[in-house]
Amino acid sequence: MVTAIIGGQWGDEGKGKIIDLLAEKADVVIRAQGGNNAGHTVVTEHGEFKFQLMPSGILYPHVTCVIGHGVVVDPRVLLKEIEQLHERGLEPASLVVSERAHMVMSYHPVLDRLEEDSRGDDRLGTTWRGIGPAYSDKIRRIGFRIGDLQKEAFMRKKLDFVVQQVKNPVMTDLYKQDRFDPDMMLEEYLGYASQLDPYIKDTYPIVQDALDRGARVLLEGAQATMLDLDFGTYPYVTSSNPTAGGACTGSGVPPTRLDAVLLVLKAYTTRVGYGPFPTEETGEVGDQIRERGREFGTVTGRARRVGYFDGAVARYAARVNGATSIALTKLDILEQLPEIKVCVGYDFRGEFHDHPMANISHLKHCEPRYVTLPGWEQPIGHCRAWEELPANCRSYVECLEDVCGTLVELIGVGPRRDQFVVRGRSFL
Ligand code: GDP
Ligand code: IMO
Ligand code: MG
Repeated sequence: MVTAIIGGQWGDEGKGKIIDLLAEKADVVIRAQGGNNAGHTVVTEHGEFKFQLMPSGILYPHVTCVIGHGVVVDPRVLLKEIEQLHERGLEPASLVVSERAHMVMSYHPVLDRLEEDSRGDDRLGTTWRGIGPAYSDKIRRIGFRIGDLQKEAFMRKKLDFVVQQVKNPVMTDLYKQDRFDPDMMLEEYLGYASQLDPYIKDTYPIVQDALDRGARVLLEGAQATMLDLDFGTYPYVTSSNPTAGGACTGSGVPPTRLDAVLLVLKAYTTRVGYGPFPTEETGEVGDQIRERGREFGTVTGRARRVGYFDGAVARYAARVNGATSIALTKLDILEQLPEIKVCVGYDFRGEFHDHPMANISHLKHCEPRYVTLPGWEQPIGHCRAWEELPANCRSYVECLEDVCGTLVELIGVGPRRDQFVVRGRSFL
């Protein structure tokens, strides 16, 4: 049974919590794309864990955790995450990193920041983790793969070329900055090589063997549909495909082996960084949700932009990912609102649009069309069954199901592992 867990909005929907929840009964968890721009939170009886590269199933010793070839890995960050687990008495013994995964090199975050600064008012609001530059180099075929760390002579020759011919001219001529030293970089990366060596493997047989024996596999999406290079609000997107197709490409699981796609949606909408956000609430309601939902970035600490549930986005995400069901998170955050709006589409220049338009300037200037539902105004953090949720709360969930055309099978009512309501089990 293979289930992809995919973000349906602009990220931070609570994918980490859902993976942790499902990983108890899983055999393998695979991260398939993104890098340490992701911040996935897991809350257990041992406290809060924030994972950037580490698959969110790592807290279960029986789960094989794979960093797939579609991920871009900053070795410094991965080593720090391993160290942080050690500090908490945990050993990531089951971690495997694909030798095909590309590395974030030390010049990538530097160039990410310089490029952002040079965009001025048109900046994207990236996480400055070098993700865009690393994926660009992969596509340009001048990237370094984790497996290259085991080939010193190859690394030396290629680093010389890439640093001298490609990176340093940009640093000195365009940005008037100091040049990078390929020898120092080689030394630095060879140092990471020995530390990461136990984890680096060919993940092809691991993934294929798991499929052959019918293992329970979870594909852990990072980022989300509206940040997808192709489906998102380009250019205000990340540099990978966080949709279901990308989960297959980046993990090595063939599309025909995918059994379920669980779309993770927050009960409202948030976005970090710039770009259109039709249902954004910049007033009191937005502030209230931000505070209650602790909507501050896991990676950068930036305040997240907040708004009502965007049904046009959610339905689009359900369709482009082929979602088989929805995990609805953070429903408890809305419990104080006397009424809650749900966007069912957009009005733009006299026409109704039921999905996000490709033209982002249209999306920026459209008018969301809302339906308004009564709130339930009582705590739900203790609820564990559908019938225990207040009637207005159930009506809100049913309204979102109608808008998305997809069943809500899992409902988050708090950050802790035990705080959820299960309505269906098709994804298990
Ligand atoms: P991810 O990037 O999709 O894994 O999400 P993040 O971890 O960046 O952000 C989600 C935040 O919401 C984290 O702080 C989680 O602990 C928290 N969270 C997840 N599910 C729920 C829920 O159902 N209710 C509440 N109150 N918090 C939740
Ligand atoms: P998780 O997995 C929310 C956003 C950045 C920026 C844009 C491009 O935790 O949901 P990048 O550094 O990727 O080039 O930045 O994408 N972004 C995220 N927003 N959650 C994430 O990951 C994100 N990863 C990238 O804020 O707007
Ligand atoms: Mg996050």
